[in-house]
Amino acid sequence: MVTEEELLTQLNRSCLPRHVAIIMDGNGRWAMARGLARTFGHQAGMESLREVVRLCVELGIQVLTVYAFSTENWRRPLSEINFLMGLLIKYLYKEVDELCARNVKIKILGNIESFTPEVQAAIDMAIERSQNNNGLNFNLALNYGGRFEIINATKVIAQKVAEGKIAVEEINEALLSRHLYTAGQPEPDLLIRTAGDCRISNFLLWQIAYTEFWFTEIKWPDFRRIHFLQALVDFQNRKRRFGGLCFN
Ligand code: IPE
Ligand code: IPE
Ligand code: MG
Repeated sequence: MVTEEELLTQLNRSCLPRHVAIIMDGNGRWAMARGLARTFGHQAGMESLREVVRLCVELGIQVLTVYAFSTENWRRPLSEINFLMGLLIKYLYKEVDELCARNVKIKILGNIESFTPEVQAAIDMAIERSQNNNGLNFNLALNYGGRFEIINATKVIAQKVAEGKIAVEEINEALLSRHLYTAGQPEPDLLIRTAGDCRISNFLLWQIAYTEFWFTEIKWPDFRRIHFLQALVDFQNRKRRFGGLCFN
C-alpha cells in the first residue's frame, strides 16, 4: 500500500486542480455494515469532511464543493432529514471559528428557502462570518439539484430578455455560467464520488462538462487524506484533451 508521504512526493503542487467537487456518499451503508442506524454514518462522515477541508487549505486548492443534501434527498424519511439538518447546524456553529482561522470562505449552492429558520440562521451566520476570507472557497451544496439550477438560470435570463435587458443573441455559455450558483468560480477539474456508485445524481450538471471523474469504493466516513491525495495524483496522470488532440 502506498503511503501518504509517498503520495505527497508524487504530487505536483504546481498543477493541482483548481476546483474539486465531492459526492460524499455511503454514510448509510457504512453504518448499516456496522449494525448501526444510518445516522451514525452521517455523524462519522463529519470527520472526513474536516480532514478534506484542512487538506485543501494546506494544499492551496481554490475551490472545494461538497454535495451535502440534494433536491431529491427530501424523499428520505423525515427523521433522517431532521437529523441531517441538526448535524448541519451543529457543524456550522462548531466549525466556523476554525474555518475562519484557516481563511475559508463559505458559500451555499442550492435553494435554502425550503429550510427551517434555524437552519437558515446557521447558514447566514457562517456566510457572514466568513465573507471577508479569501483562502479556500468552500461551497456547500444544500438542497442542490443541477436541473433546478439550470432551470432557475433559464428563468432569470428569460426575464431579462423579456425586460429588454439582454438580447437573445447574447445568450451563450459564459452568460449562462454567470447565472449559476458557481458564477465566477472555475469549473470542477476533478469530481470524486465515494461508496462505489458511478453516477452523478443531479450534481453540477452544467459545470462538469470536462471534469475528470474519480470513483472509489471507500465509503465517505472512511475517506481520509490518503484517499484524497490518491485522487489528486491520479488526476495529475490523466491526459485532458477538451476535444482537441493533446492538452498536457
Ligand atoms: C450520503 O450518504 C449523505 C447524503 C446523501 C445526505 P447516504 O445517506 O446516501 O448513504 P448511502 O448511500 O445510503 O449509503
Ligand atoms: C447524492 O447521494 C447526494 C449527496 C451525496 C448529498 P444520494 O445517495 O442521494 O444519491 P443516489 O440516490 O444514490 O443517486
Ligand atoms: Mg447515497
